[in-house]
This record gives sequence, C-alpha cells and structure tokens, in this order.
Amino acid sequence: MTSSAVRSEPWASGGVLERYADWLPIDASTPRVSLGEGSTPLVRARSLERATGADEVWLKLEMCNPTGSFKDRGMAVAVAKAIEQGATAVLCASTGNTSASAAAYAARCGLRAFVLVPEGRIAKGKLAQAAAHGAKILAVDGNFDDALRSAQRLTEHLPVALVNSVNPYRIDGQKTAAMEIVDELGDAPDLHCIPVGNAGNITAYWRGYREYFQAERSSKHPRMLGVQAAGAAPLVLGRPVEQPETIATAIRIGSPASWDGAVAARDESRGAIIAVGDDEILHAYRTLAGEEGVFCEPASAASVAGLLSRHGDGSLAGRRVVCTITGHGLKDPERAIESIQADVVEIGPEYEEAEAVIREGLA
Ligand code: F0G
Repeated sequence: MTSSAVRSEPWASGGVLERYADWLPIDASTPRVSLGEGSTPLVRARSLERATGADEVWLKLEMCNPTGSFKDRGMAVAVAKAIEQGATAVLCASTGNTSASAAAYAARCGLRAFVLVPEGRIAKGKLAQAAAHGAKILAVDGNFDDALRSAQRLTEHLPVALVNSVNPYRIDGQKTAAMEIVDELGDAPDLHCIPVGNAGNITAYWRGYREYFQAERSSKHPRMLGVQAAGAAPLVLGRPVEQPETIATAIRIGSPASWDGAVAARDESRGAIIAVGDDEILHAYRTLAGEEGVFCEPASAASVAGLLSRHGDGSLAGRRVVCTITGHGLKDPERAIESIQADVVEIGPEYEEAEAVIREGLA
C-alpha cells in the first residue's frame, strides 16, 4: 500500500497523529496511520487514595489502546514515518507488547513485520497477537537485551525500519499520553508513577510534561517515580544486569536502551527510580483487579507497587498522583491463573445446585 493510499483511507482519522499533530514531527505528507490509539481512560482509584493519603490517585489506562498496551501511540507515529520514508518492512526486538503493536500496525498498512522475542519468556497473548497479524516471529534463544542488539545490527544491514523505542518517533508518539493527562486534569499531577523496562516510556512522559510546561499548558512538572522489578533493576543499581529475572516479563530487561532519558527524567523532575519485589508487584496486580476493576499485566502493576512502597504510609496528603497502567491483563492469562485464587465451585447441570451455591454466597 502506498502512503497516499493510507492517507485516503476512511479510517485514517482520530488517533494521536490527528489529535497531537502540532506536537509531532509530522507534516501534511505524513500518512495519518491510526487504529484509534490514544484518548485512553483516566480513572480514579479510591483504594489507592486511602492507602497513600493522596487527595487524588488516577490510573491512566493505557491498556485500553487497540493492541492492549501503550506501545500503540508510538507505533502509530513510527510506522507513519517509516511509510513516509519509503519503508516496506518494520523490525523490532520485544518482550511482547512492542511486537504485538508493530505487527498490528504493519498489517494495517501493508508492511512486513519481523519481531525478535526471547523464546519462552513472553506472555502467550502477546505471541498470539504477533502471529495473528502475520508477523515473522524470530524466537531468540537469549534475553531481550540480546534480541535488541541483534535488531539494531539487522537494521544497519537490511532495508527494514527499526521500531523499537530507540526510534525517536516512538518516544514522540508516547509523550502524547502525558499531554492527554494534562489536557484532562487541567494541570500536571504532583507525582507520576510508571514502570521502567527499556526506559522509553519514562523518557517519553517526561518529554511530554516538559513540552507542555514550556508551552504554558501546565503550571508545574510532576516528580517522576520510575519503578523497576528488583531482579531487573539496572537503573537502581547504576549498572547493567546480566541475567535479569522477574515474573513481570514485559520489564525483564538488564540494559535499557533509553538509560540516559530515564536518568534525566529522574533528576530533572527531582523524582526517583526504585525497585519493587515480585511479591509487591503481584500484590498490586491483585489489588488493582480485585478492588479497582482494573485487570492489567504484572509489569503494569509495578507502577502501583512503587507508589505503595514509597507512600503506603499515607504521606501524600494534598497531592495528586497519576499511575500509568501500561498493558492489559488478558495478555498473560497464565500468570493470572497461577497467581490469583479463582473462586470456583463445580456443580451439576441442575438449577437447584446453582441456586444453593448462590444462596450461600449471598449469605
Ligand atoms: N509495561 C509494559 C506492559 C511493557 O510492555 C513495557 C515494555 C513496559 C511497561 C516498560 O516500558 O520499556 O518503555 O520502559 N515493553 C517493551 C516491549 C520492552 O518489548 O514490549 P519501557
């Protein structure tokens, strides 16, 4: 499909390229690629307000993007720019969500997609997405960091566009989430909590908040609280981790590509990057699902685990907090089944048996 065909498609409206055109490195010749990404819900989380003492805690539900993660904002822009520059194929390394998103946008725009994923270490739903969208899946006998190194080298030698977050258009697309938050709340929050893996997203949010502040769309910057898993916390340790390990496979990364961006976000915002244990991540994962009705994937719950580990003592009185919920829980049903005790009763087909169970449940 040519870029003019993309431009004239009736679906080519809405999405971040339309809504935030003035803030993106695009012009009239950039195809308005969209699956309707962005404009995600921002919802209050009362249980977290009680736990932290904050006046307001908001969850930015990036899991509600078309492929179920925040990656779609950046992917729309990266794919649009790749088409504008004449690419016919995209390539990425991924812990799962980037590959799902790249595969979907490539399918929509008639591009080939090649995705490198750490074999056996990505959630099944994400693999299913890449497969369903027709991507060529390279299952790497190594971790994400190995896969990203190969991906970067491959794009130096082959006519494929790299759509990892080392691609600056990804960061530009993802910064629109911070802009949306300010647009909706009327100002920047006091604190923003976000999971950190390859560190593209914290870099992107900080850019979005900074640009809006400079343009006087907000009166302040939030402090950025980046959250890593304890077994994959290079930014907390100050050095790469050779063998990262965590149940939050999306952020199982030992050598983040946007290291400098994350450090700048932390230091310029007078924030912090902290580590939380897998047990804390799972606790937040269950709390979000059980008390807020938000079923996210474990990596996403890290932002809330970080908030609770820092401010579970009620120290945030008078503050407004936003946590990014990066990916959908349905991507990793195996983790849910393993770590959440399902309340199941086996019954026969008779009405009476069902009635008895429900009467007992209501009692
Ligand atoms: N949350 C989820 C659900 C993710 O998939 C990722 C990253 C992150 C948080 C961390 O974001 O890398 O910008 O710091 N997933 C990438 C991927 C690495 O390949 O899907 P980050």
